[in-house]
Amino acid sequence: MGKRTIVSLPGDGIGAIVLSEAIRVLEATGFNADYIEGDIGWKFWRKEGNPLPERTINLLAEHKIGLFGAITSKPKDEAADELDAELQQKGLVYSSPIVGLRQHFNMDICIRPCKTYPGNPLNFIRRGKDGTIEEPIIDVAIFRQNTEGLYGGVEWSDPPGQVHEALMTHPKFRKNFGRVPANDISVSTRIFTRKATRRILQAAFGHARKYGYKSVTVCEKPNVIRETSGMMFKMAKEIQQDEYPEIELWNTNIDAQMMWLTKNPEDYNVIVAGNMFGDIVSDAFAGLIGGLGFACSAQFSADGVALFEPTHGSAPKYAGYDISIVNPIAMIESACMMLDYLGEEERSGRIRNAVSVVVKEGKVRTYDMMKLTGSQDVLNKGASSTKEMTDAIISKL
Ligand code: NAI
Ligand code: MG
Repeated sequence: MGKRTIVSLPGDGIGAIVLSEAIRVLEATGFNADYIEGDIGWKFWRKEGNPLPERTINLLAEHKIGLFGAITSKPKDEAADELDAELQQKGLVYSSPIVGLRQHFNMDICIRPCKTYPGNPLNFIRRGKDGTIEEPIIDVAIFRQNTEGLYGGVEWSDPPGQVHEALMTHPKFRKNFGRVPANDISVSTRIFTRKATRRILQAAFGHARKYGYKSVTVCEKPNVIRETSGMMFKMAKEIQQDEYPEIELWNTNIDAQMMWLTKNPEDYNVIVAGNMFGDIVSDAFAGLIGGLGFACSAQFSADGVALFEPTHGSAPKYAGYDISIVNPIAMIESACMMLDYLGEEERSGRIRNAVSVVVKEGKVRTYDMMKLTGSQDVLNKGASSTKEMTDAIISKL
């Protein structure tokens, strides 16, 4: 394979720290790549009034593959106050650069795998028969529609006249809300399109087939949210029957799925959901396999732009430490997803194997794995640093 070009987007806080650790691991596998750094995040908001400069979008448009750390976001007013003096009072409004990237490139597919590393002290355990302790092995990949639904941004408080009129044409609106003054109403819509729904379902089934999983579960609420959830499940049935007969199609409701989460999480394989329920179910499963130090993700567009990132944010309170204490595994796992995507599965397999050996040995553990509260002092309490964790993983490659 020739040399790859990867756009590295360190961002803010610990994002930059864990990204450079992940690149160390990639390099240790002999993965042949140039990393071009893209400007993104708080620094660029303050200096340029734009956390996602055009040049960064262009870089990603050109090279297609991004490895992203994390950014800091702050509420609108606070953000405006932190702008450099010459940018103040210009009416600049902060918006999240991750959401900006997702929208610009229409990265509509989000994958969040959640897989247990045996020996991780953060693993979910439950009481079995006769008081035994069971540690189920969870191996779930959540496919979340990333651009539509409840996070699509089509919403109003005090909806304008035309919108209100349109809503009044719906008998249920008229009956339940018809007499409420418009300025006492907020509306957030949940729009699903067939095209995007098909894409997320196809991606989920395709993943199940590629990796030999036996089931795909649609996790929505079609019995109540009949139109959107209902459409997704109906389309899932068609796709399963026509194209993936060897894969079982399951249907769970998001609320019940949360209740069953701790009962039988090992029974699920691929889960697919709309934007918000996908967000919920992926955080929930991530909690069972170690939380933010372990949760990785990828986002894809139809035209080949892919972004790989840990689920965690920039954790500013841990960013300024002389010796970093945060867990680099979520970022390293995200880099593995990138390798899979690039067909470099031999290397990603080696990295995951090295992580699993380190986790199982239990000699090197970051503070989160020791259930300590983060502080510089955790290193005196036996926690390993970010760099020690990376070194340990590299030593097992
Ligand atoms: P966060 O994910 O940055 O941190 C929350 C807590 O999780 C930390 O205080 C720490 O205890 C733990 N944690 C996070 N990453 C860890 C790691 N690698 N190893 C060990 N422990 C880890 O979320 P928070 O504090 O709510 O947000 C901080 C900033 O990050 C905010 O400005 C927020 O807007 C932004 N953010 C950015 C995201 C992104 O870039 N994708 C996602 C979430 C938040
Ligand atoms: Mg979430």
